[in-house]
Amino acid sequence: MKIAVIGGGSTYTPELIEGFARRSRVLAVEELVLQDVAADRLEIVGGLARRILARQGFAGRLVTTTSPDAAVDGAAAVLIQLRIGGQRARLVDETLPGRFGLLGQETTGPGGFAKGLRTIPVVLAIADLVARRARHDAWIVDFTNPVGMVTRALLDEGHRALGLCNVAIGLQRRLAARLGVDPDRVRLDHAGLNHLSWIRRVLVDGIDRLPEMLASDDIGDLVDAPAELMRTLGAIPSYYLHYFYRTDRATEARAGGPHRADEVLDIEQTLLKMYADPALDHKPALLDKRGGAYYSEAAAALATSLLTGDGAHHYVNVRNNGTIDGLSDETVVEVPATVDTAGAHPVPVAALAPEMLGLVQAVTAYEILTIEAARTGDRRVALRALLAHPLVRQWDIAVPLLDAVLDANRQHLPRF
Ligand code: G6P
Ligand code: MN
Repeated sequence: MKIAVIGGGSTYTPELIEGFARRSRVLAVEELVLQDVAADRLEIVGGLARRILARQGFAGRLVTTTSPDAAVDGAAAVLIQLRIGGQRARLVDETLPGRFGLLGQETTGPGGFAKGLRTIPVVLAIADLVARRARHDAWIVDFTNPVGMVTRALLDEGHRALGLCNVAIGLQRRLAARLGVDPDRVRLDHAGLNHLSWIRRVLVDGIDRLPEMLASDDIGDLVDAPAELMRTLGAIPSYYLHYFYRTDRATEARAGGPHRADEVLDIEQTLLKMYADPALDHKPALLDKRGGAYYSEAAAALATSLLTGDGAHHYVNVRNNGTIDGLSDETVVEVPATVDTAGAHPVPVAALAPEMLGLVQAVTAYEILTIEAARTGDRRVALRALLAHPLVRQWDIAVPLLDAVLDANRQHLPRF
């Protein structure tokens, strides 16, 4: 069996490689292909990947290539983890909205909008290659942000795709540590959209421990939200919701810097230096400083479920199909699901409370319009997307904001 990683030169890749190496007894990977446009990074990351696999006694072969065609040829699963424009484009996403008094963040607000416009056409082009050259039943696992929109764009074109994010598993681990139990025993009633989700129950062996956690004095230390906000919602909002519940505070904090893109650039430079050391044969602890920690662990586990049909439990981005009341079947939601070779089967979740559903519907409208704008390059649709976004909304801001976004991203937006 062959697995391809598009964007394999990412500094996250060593974690992914460890995930596959650990599963080699259940998932027989004969060929693991790392593809990237950056040949220099690919060589460094590929070198470390080889050493990790050798240490773990991996029997398959590791191939590095700059060719997406060669990478996806005959693959059973294609993992997509790219970042168009790199951290430089991210820095623009994080700083440009501040000129309009808006939040600067890479996936939420105008930054996520810009990232969607840059990314969706590229991922769709790769998916076309997968449809033509990979195994006929190949799966696409997307962790390219903005994951919700990218996944929906893939599904709308008829691809076999799932979207993955580490927010739910990150919280699962933290909640488990707080409760002093193994993370595997914790099941979250997690629902919403990617980067717009709430946890309404924390089940440990089937018993909901959330009420007790919400009542405790130190619940506020667990996630970056006031304890009373969580008690009011009766839920733990994901980290990204503070951009909506505390917009002014977050916008100010972001505008003041330091910017995450700069921090990540530093971390990546150090990581690449470490990766180049021929004595290193495991993922360094510094990688855990990236927000996507455990991401790749989840990705390797998800690929294993899709390819072996083990029916394991995951948190994924998938079509709603009735899982969350009040959203169309086509909406791509982030929910718990069991996964086998036929795909993800969402676990029933509680209905979203009105204040949650309203926000999800508004952001879904923005996502649909952003996908359409990315595919068509239609300026009016792009403006409608910004009008639909609760963090933009105003016409007098949307018009100059769109001009600025298009201008700053010109080289990555051939359709506009
Ligand atoms: C979280 C999100 C990811 C995002 C990452 C950013 O893990 O779920 O979607 O990519 O944070 O981390 P970074 O280290 O790049 O700031
Ligand atoms: Mn994410």
